[in-house]
Amino acid sequence: MPEEVTGPPEERADQLLREARRELSAAPFTPSLREATLLLGRVLGLDEAPLLARGERVVTAGEAARFRRLLQRRLRGEPVAYLLGEREFYGRSFRVDRRVLIPRPESEHLVEALLERRSTLPERPRLLDIGTGSGCLAVTLALELANSRVVATDLSPGALAVAAGNARRLGACARMSFVATDLEAALGEGELFDIVLSNPPYVAEGDRDRLSIEITDFEPPQALYAEQGGVAILLRLAALAARRLVPGGWLACEIGDGQIAALTSGFARVAPELEWAEVRKDYAGKPRTVILRRQPR
Ligand SMILES: C[S@@+](CC[C@H](N)C(=O)[O-])C[C@H]1O[C@@H](n2cnc3c(N)ncnc32)[C@H](O)[C@@H]1O
Repeated sequence: MPEEVTGPPEERADQLLREARRELSAAPFTPSLREATLLLGRVLGLDEAPLLARGERVVTAGEAARFRRLLQRRLRGEPVAYLLGEREFYGRSFRVDRRVLIPRPESEHLVEALLERRSTLPERPRLLDIGTGSGCLAVTLALELANSRVVATDLSPGALAVAAGNARRLGACARMSFVATDLEAALGEGELFDIVLSNPPYVAEGDRDRLSIEITDFEPPQALYAEQGGVAILLRLAALAARRLVPGGWLACEIGDGQIAALTSGFARVAPELEWAEVRKDYAGKPRTVILRRQPR
């Protein structure tokens, strides 16, 4: 009798998900268990809801192997956004890879704070986003402020390539430009803006050990750390905003936990032309977004 040929045992989606959730819940950092569904959905080309609704679906050996490889990378700390290649920000999907910081939900406060001030802006507002990374802030504001012109800068050419790709995909690039430079040094002297915004690096070098390996081992260091206890770039931003803003223009920055006192005195020293307008707290109740205004004439 010919020998029966048997392939690898069939696996079901819900079994794979159970196994993955067990492994994720034992990880030394805190992945959400939903990530298992996102990763398997990516392999199978399915959204979360249909995947969960069809848990009995049979997964091929190749699909299961691809899923387990992704899961192992996640268990070593690689953020799920890099594994999926995207992260949602302000209702839009941004492509991300290891050249850029993963957009954080906290940064949506900065967008909201600026949009609340839209009635103070001219018909064609000019915006300058410094350290644009994935372009999440710059592209979002370009799309939300329909007639705006947005200049986005970054030290990292790789980050600018990601940001420009996002602008193209999301339909904002006609009103945007991307400049590789230290802060805004490469812009023309007389180029002025109605809004200067930035989510700059603001982690103190000494705080590196307090961060998860998901951040320290995977996100670009130049997106994270700054000197002077983390406030060095924020102070440079305030000084340049005092030069680059039109009278009545706004500076909006994201800041780190515990930096508000140093920034209050530091900004007064380097940019006395700027008046504090608002300090907005994040979902954890910490001061996170600061808004200052160049005195109107
Ligand atoms: C915290 S990330 C923010 C990225 C993005 N704006 C966001 O909110 O997700 C800071 C960005 O600033 C860039 N950067 C760091 N130092 C810079 C400098 N001196 N001039 C311009 N960009 C800088 C980094 O490459 C990084 O992309």
